[in-house]
Amino acid sequence: MPYDAQLNFIFWSPTKVVFGENTALDVAIEVENLKCKKALIVTDKELILSTDLPDRIRKTLGNLCAGIFSDVEPDSGIHIVNQGAKFGVARGADCLVSVGGGSAIDTAKGMAVVMKEGGRLQDYAGFQVLTRPQTPHITIPTTAGTGSEATYIAVIKDHQKGRKLLFGDYNILPNVAILDPRMTEGLPSRLTAATGMDAMCHAIEALYSLQREPIADGLALHAIRLIKEFLPTAVENGQDMTARGQMLLAANMAGSAFSNAQVGLVHALAHSVGAVFGVHHGLANSILLPACLRYNADACGDVCLNILSALGMGTGGIQAGEAGEILADKIAEFTKKLGLPQRLRDVGVPEAGLQECSELALSDGAIVYNPKFISESAEALKVYQEAW
Ligand SMILES: [Fe+2]
Repeated sequence: MPYDAQLNFIFWSPTKVVFGENTALDVAIEVENLKCKKALIVTDKELILSTDLPDRIRKTLGNLCAGIFSDVEPDSGIHIVNQGAKFGVARGADCLVSVGGGSAIDTAKGMAVVMKEGGRLQDYAGFQVLTRPQTPHITIPTTAGTGSEATYIAVIKDHQKGRKLLFGDYNILPNVAILDPRMTEGLPSRLTAATGMDAMCHAIEALYSLQREPIADGLALHAIRLIKEFLPTAVENGQDMTARGQMLLAANMAGSAFSNAQVGLVHALAHSVGAVFGVHHGLANSILLPACLRYNADACGDVCLNILSALGMGTGGIQAGEAGEILADKIAEFTKKLGLPQRLRDVGVPEAGLQECSELALSDGAIVYNPKFISESAEALKVYQEAW
């Protein structure tokens, strides 16, 4: 669909991408390129216990390693960020190397701020609060989905208040993303599928966002093609380095797309069931996507036609008005084949909790970019109920 001739937009994606098998072993070169001397590895205990990935990075860093901070939790927490920053300062770290999924990367984004500016992370909540570059940060994703290595957003949970806070600032964009498929080969198939669907949601929501723009469109459409082609293989055979690598690229492109174009209703609803009931982010997105597509169908039919094409479907004869419904069915079929749960009730969300989530979703930053304006929690509730 052509854009208005008056369109103005900014596309911002300065993160250096290093791609390829075993490129994580070159992390020391990237630390030196950043003129840093001591790198703190930020990761989680699970990764340390079940894989040798953080240790591989520690060994390859050698004398450049300032230590490992491994207290990252599944949902990055404010208190962990503040503790990690203290640890980094005490170790004399002048840069961060996050090794993990979105939580490790987001925790490190927060730590980068507190290590540079002092104080507590809470002091910097909001959008474009920072005025200068933060502690240099190299990311090594071990999942392919969040795209957090390419975004200026960190989602950090306030565990006391049971809600997720958004931090958005160009100054927290990581300096380098090392996309090494070897770093994702041990990811279990269900997590591969769920995180891959997070990337799919980033791409789809970026395409129909109110802030959509042509460069992000190109990245998002190609990400969808790659996810359609390579996610099933990555789920079936985690050792397939081609599929793993292409999924890392897809997640990165979708991340860059939504960092610029934003996401919408799917993410607003997923953040809320994640905050209240601890549902895994990718899983929540995957379950909510079809219901949100049906809700948005009358506002983004042309875009849905483009998405169907990217999914390899012939669109001749499909009217824009019916494309959203067809796309919703297609996505549900895709996630079913990946073995993912289809309903919110399958992932521990009680029906009685949907009202609270609906109210919370209305205050989520993502909802304002949804192609359809939502001002009543009753509308969010309707979508939740359809997905329940
Ligand atoms: Fe996401």
